Amino acid sequence: MLKQLEKNHANLSSYIGVDINPRSDPGMRQELEPIIGSERFHYMIADYNECTADDFGAHQGLTVVTMLGFQEGNELPEKMANILAGLTKPGDLLLSEMQLFSAGGYGPMVDFYNLEPMKRFSNSVCKRNRVAAIDQHSIFITPIDTALGKTMVAATIAPYRHNGSQRYLLTNCCLKYTQRQFREMREQQSAFQVVEEFLTGDGTIAYQFALRA
Ligand SMILES: C[S@@+](CC[C@H](N)C(=O)[O-])C[C@H]1O[C@@H](n2cnc3c(N)ncnc32)[C@H](O)[C@@H]1O
Repeated sequence: MLKQLEKNHANLSSYIGVDINPRSDPGMRQELEPIIGSERFHYMIADYNECTADDFGAHQGLTVVTMLGFQEGNELPEKMANILAGLTKPGDLLLSEMQLFSAGGYGPMVDFYNLEPMKRFSNSVCKRNRVAAIDQHSIFITPIDTALGKTMVAATIAPYRHNGSQRYLLTNCCLKYTQRQFREMREQQSAFQVVEEFLTGDGTIAYQFALRA
Protein backbone atom coordinates (compact mmCIF):
# COMPACT_ATOMS: atom_id res chain seq x y z
CA MET A 1 0.00 0.00 0.00
CA LEU A 2 2.79 2.42 0.88
CA LYS A 3 4.53 1.61 -2.41
CA GLN A 4 1.35 2.34 -4.33
CA LEU A 5 0.76 5.61 -2.48
CA GLU A 6 4.36 6.71 -3.17
CA LYS A 7 3.94 5.76 -6.83
CA ASN A 8 0.85 7.97 -6.97
CA HIS A 9 2.86 10.86 -5.46
CA ALA A 10 0.98 10.91 -2.15
CA ASN A 11 2.87 13.03 0.35
CA LEU A 12 3.35 10.52 3.17
CA SER A 13 4.44 12.23 6.38
CA SER A 14 4.85 9.11 8.52
CA TYR A 15 4.00 5.47 9.08
CA ILE A 16 3.31 4.37 12.65
CA GLY A 17 3.07 0.64 13.26
CA VAL A 18 1.40 -0.61 16.46
CA ASP A 19 1.86 -4.19 17.54
CA ILE A 20 1.75 -5.97 20.87
CA ASN A 21 4.49 -8.36 19.76
CA PRO A 22 8.01 -6.84 19.93
CA ARG A 23 9.24 -9.44 17.43
CA SER A 24 7.09 -7.86 14.70
CA ASP A 25 9.23 -4.70 14.65
CA PRO A 26 12.34 -5.92 12.75
CA GLY A 27 10.28 -7.60 10.01
CA MET A 28 8.11 -4.54 9.42
CA ARG A 29 11.15 -2.24 9.56
CA GLN A 30 13.01 -4.34 6.98
CA GLU A 31 10.04 -4.24 4.59
CA LEU A 32 8.90 -0.66 5.04
CA GLU A 33 12.02 1.43 5.66
CA PRO A 34 13.22 1.03 2.05
CA ILE A 35 9.86 2.46 0.91
CA ILE A 36 9.20 5.21 3.43
CA GLY A 37 12.68 5.91 4.84
CA SER A 38 13.87 5.43 8.43
CA GLU A 39 12.98 9.00 9.48
CA ARG A 40 9.30 8.44 8.62
CA PHE A 41 9.08 4.90 10.03
CA HIS A 42 7.87 4.66 13.64
CA TYR A 43 6.96 1.59 15.59
CA MET A 44 5.12 1.31 18.90
CA ILE A 45 5.01 -1.88 20.94
CA ALA A 46 1.58 -1.48 22.48
CA ASP A 47 -1.72 -3.23 23.10
CA TYR A 48 -4.46 -1.68 20.99
CA ASN A 49 -6.84 -2.19 23.92
CA GLU A 50 -4.84 0.40 25.78
CA CYS A 51 -3.43 2.90 23.28
CA THR A 52 -5.50 5.66 21.69
CA ALA A 53 -5.16 8.12 18.80
CA ASP A 54 -3.62 10.61 21.27
CA ASP A 55 -0.61 8.31 21.63
CA PHE A 56 0.18 8.73 17.90
CA GLY A 57 0.85 12.48 18.24
CA ALA A 58 -0.52 15.33 16.12
CA HIS A 59 -0.33 15.05 12.32
CA GLN A 60 -1.35 17.33 9.51
CA GLY A 61 -3.40 15.92 6.66
CA LEU A 62 -5.31 12.67 6.46
CA THR A 63 -4.67 9.79 8.86
CA VAL A 64 -5.46 6.30 7.59
CA VAL A 65 -5.70 3.64 10.28
CA THR A 66 -5.43 0.06 9.04
CA MET A 67 -6.70 -3.11 10.68
CA LEU A 68 -5.55 -5.80 8.26
CA GLY A 69 -5.15 -9.56 8.27
CA PHE A 70 -8.69 -10.30 9.55
CA GLN A 71 -7.51 -9.01 12.93
CA GLU A 72 -10.88 -7.35 13.56
CA GLY A 73 -12.49 -10.81 13.75
CA ASN A 74 -10.49 -11.69 16.85
CA GLU A 75 -12.73 -9.55 19.08
CA LEU A 76 -16.48 -9.41 19.65
CA PRO A 77 -18.16 -6.57 17.70
CA GLU A 78 -18.87 -4.28 20.65
CA LYS A 79 -15.33 -4.64 21.99
CA MET A 80 -13.73 -4.00 18.59
CA ALA A 81 -16.04 -1.02 18.05
CA ASN A 82 -14.64 0.60 21.23
CA ILE A 83 -11.06 -0.20 20.23
CA LEU A 84 -11.50 1.31 16.75
CA ALA A 85 -13.25 4.41 18.09
CA GLY A 86 -10.34 4.89 20.51
CA LEU A 87 -7.67 4.45 17.82
CA THR A 88 -9.22 7.07 15.50
CA LYS A 89 -10.17 10.75 15.59
CA PRO A 90 -13.03 12.42 13.68
CA GLY A 91 -12.05 12.76 10.00
CA ASP A 92 -9.72 9.73 10.04
CA LEU A 93 -10.16 6.92 7.52
CA LEU A 94 -10.22 3.31 8.68
CA LEU A 95 -9.28 0.48 6.31
CA SER A 96 -10.19 -2.98 7.52
CA GLU A 97 -9.68 -6.33 5.81
CA MET A 98 -11.96 -9.24 6.71
CA GLN A 99 -12.63 -12.70 5.37
CA LEU A 100 -16.41 -12.88 4.89
CA PHE A 101 -18.94 -15.63 5.32
CA SER A 102 -19.99 -15.42 1.68
CA ALA A 103 -21.85 -17.37 -0.99
CA GLY A 104 -18.61 -19.39 -1.30
CA GLY A 105 -19.59 -21.21 1.94
CA TYR A 106 -17.08 -22.78 4.32
CA GLY A 107 -14.51 -23.81 1.68
CA PRO A 108 -12.52 -20.54 1.51
CA MET A 109 -12.24 -20.42 5.32
CA VAL A 110 -11.09 -24.04 5.52
CA ASP A 111 -8.56 -23.32 2.75
CA PHE A 112 -7.22 -20.30 4.65
CA TYR A 113 -6.74 -22.12 7.98
CA ASN A 114 -5.18 -25.06 6.13
CA LEU A 115 -2.35 -22.81 4.86
CA GLU A 116 1.12 -23.57 6.24
CA PRO A 117 1.53 -20.15 7.94
CA MET A 118 -1.76 -20.69 9.85
CA LYS A 119 -0.58 -24.17 10.92
CA ARG A 120 2.70 -22.58 12.08
CA PHE A 121 0.65 -19.99 13.99
CA SER A 122 -1.20 -22.80 15.83
CA ASN A 123 2.10 -24.51 16.61
CA SER A 124 3.47 -21.28 18.08
CA VAL A 125 0.35 -20.88 20.27
CA CYS A 126 0.86 -24.47 21.49
CA LYS A 127 4.50 -23.72 22.29
CA ARG A 128 3.59 -20.53 24.17
CA ASN A 129 1.12 -22.58 26.23
CA ARG A 130 3.65 -25.41 26.75
CA VAL A 131 1.39 -27.87 24.96
CA ALA A 132 2.86 -30.65 22.78
CA ALA A 133 0.35 -31.05 19.95
CA ILE A 134 0.00 -34.64 18.71
CA ASP A 135 -1.39 -33.66 15.30
CA GLN A 136 -2.09 -30.66 13.06
CA HIS A 137 -4.90 -28.35 14.10
CA SER A 138 -8.51 -29.05 13.12
CA ILE A 139 -10.80 -26.37 11.82
CA PHE A 140 -14.40 -25.89 12.85
CA ILE A 141 -16.88 -23.29 11.77
CA THR A 142 -19.95 -22.56 13.83
CA PRO A 143 -22.45 -19.77 14.44
CA ILE A 144 -22.38 -17.82 17.71
CA ASP A 145 -24.68 -15.11 19.05
CA THR A 146 -23.15 -11.65 18.97
CA ALA A 147 -24.54 -8.11 19.11
CA LEU A 148 -24.96 -8.45 15.31
CA GLY A 149 -27.12 -11.58 15.63
CA LYS A 150 -25.94 -15.05 14.54
CA THR A 151 -22.36 -14.67 13.39
CA MET A 152 -20.10 -17.35 11.97
CA VAL A 153 -16.82 -18.00 13.70
CA ALA A 154 -13.90 -20.07 12.40
CA ALA A 155 -11.73 -21.68 15.05
CA THR A 156 -8.67 -23.91 15.06
CA ILE A 157 -7.99 -26.47 17.78
CA ALA A 158 -4.82 -28.50 18.32
CA PRO A 159 -5.08 -31.97 19.94
CA TYR A 160 -2.78 -32.91 22.83
CA ARG A 161 -2.63 -35.51 25.60
CA HIS A 162 -3.07 -34.75 29.28
CA ASN A 163 -3.01 -37.52 31.94
CA GLY A 164 -3.88 -40.12 29.31
CA SER A 165 -6.88 -38.31 27.83
CA GLN A 166 -7.06 -36.32 24.62
CA ARG A 167 -7.70 -32.60 24.93
CA TYR A 168 -7.74 -29.65 22.54
CA LEU A 169 -6.16 -26.23 22.76
CA LEU A 170 -8.03 -23.41 21.04
CA THR A 171 -5.31 -21.76 18.96
CA ASN A 172 -7.29 -19.14 17.01
CA CYS A 173 -10.83 -17.95 16.55
CA CYS A 174 -12.04 -15.32 14.15
CA LEU A 175 -15.50 -13.94 13.38
CA LYS A 176 -16.58 -14.22 9.76
CA TYR A 177 -19.19 -11.57 9.09
CA THR A 178 -21.44 -11.51 6.07
CA GLN A 179 -20.88 -8.42 3.92
CA ARG A 180 -24.00 -6.92 5.49
CA GLN A 181 -22.86 -7.63 9.05
CA PHE A 182 -19.46 -6.09 8.31
CA ARG A 183 -21.22 -2.89 7.21
CA GLU A 184 -23.57 -3.03 10.23
CA MET A 185 -20.60 -3.56 12.50
CA ARG A 186 -19.13 -0.26 11.36
CA GLU A 187 -22.28 1.80 11.09
CA GLN A 188 -24.30 0.53 14.07
CA GLN A 189 -21.57 -0.36 16.51
CA SER A 190 -19.07 2.39 15.83
CA ALA A 191 -18.93 6.10 15.12
CA PHE A 192 -18.16 5.46 11.43
CA GLN A 193 -19.73 5.76 8.02
CA VAL A 194 -18.74 3.25 5.34
CA VAL A 195 -17.44 5.16 2.32
CA GLU A 196 -16.10 2.38 0.07
CA GLU A 197 -15.96 -1.40 -0.09
CA PHE A 198 -13.88 -3.65 -2.33
CA LEU A 199 -14.28 -7.41 -2.61
CA THR A 200 -11.82 -9.89 -4.05
CA GLY A 201 -12.96 -11.56 -7.29
CA ASP A 202 -14.37 -14.58 -5.45
CA GLY A 203 -16.24 -12.28 -3.02
CA THR A 204 -14.65 -13.81 0.08
CA ILE A 205 -12.39 -10.98 1.28
CA ALA A 206 -13.63 -7.47 1.93
CA TYR A 207 -11.63 -4.24 2.19
CA GLN A 208 -13.78 -1.61 3.85
CA PHE A 209 -13.01 2.11 4.07
CA ALA A 210 -14.94 3.98 6.75
CA LEU A 211 -14.85 7.59 7.83
CA ARG A 212 -14.71 8.37 11.53
CA ALA A 213 -17.53 10.81 12.32
C1 LIG B 1 -3.28 -10.79 11.43
S1 LIG B 1 -2.02 -9.68 11.85
C2 LIG B 1 -2.73 -8.20 11.46
C3 LIG B 1 -1.81 -7.33 10.73
C4 LIG B 1 -1.75 -5.88 11.21
N1 LIG B 1 -2.73 -5.60 12.24
C5 LIG B 1 -1.95 -4.93 10.04
O1 LIG B 1 -2.94 -4.19 10.00
O2 LIG B 1 -1.09 -4.91 9.15
C6 LIG B 1 -2.10 -9.72 13.54
C7 LIG B 1 -1.09 -8.82 14.25
O3 LIG B 1 -1.80 -8.13 15.26
C8 LIG B 1 -1.01 -8.15 16.44
N2 LIG B 1 -1.88 -8.05 17.61
C9 LIG B 1 -2.70 -9.01 18.12
N3 LIG B 1 -3.33 -8.56 19.21
C10 LIG B 1 -2.93 -7.27 19.40
C11 LIG B 1 -3.22 -6.29 20.38
N4 LIG B 1 -4.08 -6.53 21.37
N5 LIG B 1 -2.61 -5.09 20.29
C12 LIG B 1 -1.74 -4.83 19.27
N6 LIG B 1 -1.41 -5.74 18.31
C13 LIG B 1 -1.99 -6.94 18.38
C14 LIG B 1 -0.25 -9.45 16.39
O4 LIG B 1 0.93 -9.41 17.17
C15 LIG B 1 0.04 -9.60 14.88
O5 LIG B 1 1.26 -9.03 14.50
